[in-house]
Amino acid sequence: MEITNKQIAEYTESFTSEEPEIIKQLVKASENDLQHVDMLSGRQTGLLLKMLVAISGSKRVLEVGTFTGYSAIMMADALPDDGELITCEMNERYQIISEPFFSKEPYRNKISQKLGNALDLIPKIERKFDLIFLDADKVNYPEYYRLAKTKINSGGLIVIDNVLWDGDVLEKKNRKAAAIHQMNEIIRDDKEVEQLMLPLRDGVTIVRVLRK
Ligand SMILES: C[S@@+](CC[C@H](N)C(=O)[O-])C[C@H]1O[C@@H](n2cnc3c(N)ncnc32)[C@H](O)[C@@H]1O
Repeated sequence: MEITNKQIAEYTESFTSEEPEIIKQLVKASENDLQHVDMLSGRQTGLLLKMLVAISGSKRVLEVGTFTGYSAIMMADALPDDGELITCEMNERYQIISEPFFSKEPYRNKISQKLGNALDLIPKIERKFDLIFLDADKVNYPEYYRLAKTKINSGGLIVIDNVLWDGDVLEKKNRKAAAIHQMNEIIRDDKEVEQLMLPLRDGVTIVRVLRK
């Protein structure tokens, strides 16, 4: 199912700021090495994340699901010089593509990547974050939300991509859609947060943690 009318989607994208040059290079490198790059969050979600980091004044960001680094670089661009972004990815093949970009200035001192299963990695991270972006395997979304709540600062933001899963959440047609819907219900019923679900691209939810 198309979430947004195709022409409107193209129109809104054309009135969204262009990606920085490094992102264009990263997309090209991803396309050269991989058959499919449709996991990239893309221009509008990327810019939304960048703006949220900037507006919230976030200094510590956690990303769950790096792929080749699109959203990590967009968010890192909005971090102050002493800001930090930790990003988790389990597939070494994607890390080989993202690493040369993460090693460039000014990302070298801001982005650190952890390779492994995020479900194991997140509980071991000692610090707390101002913004957490969830974008890894969809069947584990309820668990990622639970873990994110343990690692987010009060007043912080949890941003989640693909919350509509091509519209499949309406009928919960498959395991992924059922898990995403379960998480959507958990967030809706969570009295400690306020949330805004946007029909942007494949659906993005912004959760603001009010108290813990
Ligand atoms: C949708 S992509 C992330 C896209 C990325 N945020 C971007 O904007 O380019 C999801 C990524 O999560 C990774 N992933 C899936 N399950 C994971 C897990 N349990 N732990 C860590 N990474 C995982 C996948 O390998 C994939 O690269």
